[in-house]
Amino acid sequence: MALTDYKTALVTGASAGIGAATVRALAAKGIAVTAVARRVDRLEALATETGATPLALDLNDTDALYATLEPLEVDILVNNAGLGRAMANFLEAAPEDIDLTIDTNVSAFLHVVRALAPGMAARKRGHIVNIGSVAGLYPLQSPIYGASKGAVRLASQNLRIELLGTGVRLTEICPGRVVTEFLVQAAGEEAARKTYGQFDELKPEDIADTIMFAVDTPWHVNLSTIEIVPTEQAFGGVQIVPMNN
Ligand SMILES: NC(=O)c1ccc[n+]([C@@H]2O[C@H](COP(=O)([O-])OP(=O)(O)OC[C@H]3O[C@@H](n4cnc5c(N)ncnc54)[C@H](OP(=O)(O)O)[C@@H]3O)[C@@H](O)[C@H]2O)c1
Repeated sequence: MALTDYKTALVTGASAGIGAATVRALAAKGIAVTAVARRVDRLEALATETGATPLALDLNDTDALYATLEPLEVDILVNNAGLGRAMANFLEAAPEDIDLTIDTNVSAFLHVVRALAPGMAARKRGHIVNIGSVAGLYPLQSPIYGASKGAVRLASQNLRIELLGTGVRLTEICPGRVVTEFLVQAAGEEAARKTYGQFDELKPEDIADTIMFAVDTPWHVNLSTIEIVPTEQAFGGVQIVPMNN
């Protein structure tokens, strides 16, 4: 089962960044794509450009999520919508920063899989692509976001076990820094301007290309985890900060 066997896809977080680039890449291969996000104007522009079907949905509205997604026949799910709040300052985080991050990156992420994966398994055809992060693999001084992406990591690995024998493949993609609206949304224009451009970062199209590669492998191949980072970015190491007193 490769890309030629798949007819339909659903991409969450399709109004910007990685999601929008993935809609373009899938549509260019003749896949009928449903593009999900809240910003209708963005979705409509993407639909005009690519032929994708726009679907305005707040993924944190759980009832609407199930009512809208469960009836759909989806071969490829790109479970991509996500955000960051209070990324590097947990000690100053507002309670709603914690709730919004976990609601969006973990709860909604799981509900989307729960809504679509049973249909894939019943049809014995499907590929789930979960967008994790290097923040789910390494400590990056982002307790809330890291917790949410760590959940994506373990959910993906556990789902692989449950999906065995169903005909449904699962790939988790863990990007390093990608230039998108993510930081603008997470920390504002000024923070994004200071952060982006320090080195040659990934582009959304790099992640879209990786997704296309993963879904186009032959049936017997499951790319379970892909870590993709800029050449000029690496993770790990030890930091020592003596106590300040
Ligand atoms: N950029 C990076 O460096 C990076 C690195 C690693 C992983 N990631 C992950 O990659 C994924 C995509 O991020 P990105 O960088 O492309 O960010 P982005 O440009 O900010 O796009 C985020 C998308 O998520 C959608 N979204 C957020 N909350 C939603 C909700 N409640 N309901 C429906 N849609 C919602 C947004 O659409 P609306 O606002 O229109 O609803 C938008 O389309 C995220 O899971 C992120 O954690 C990003």
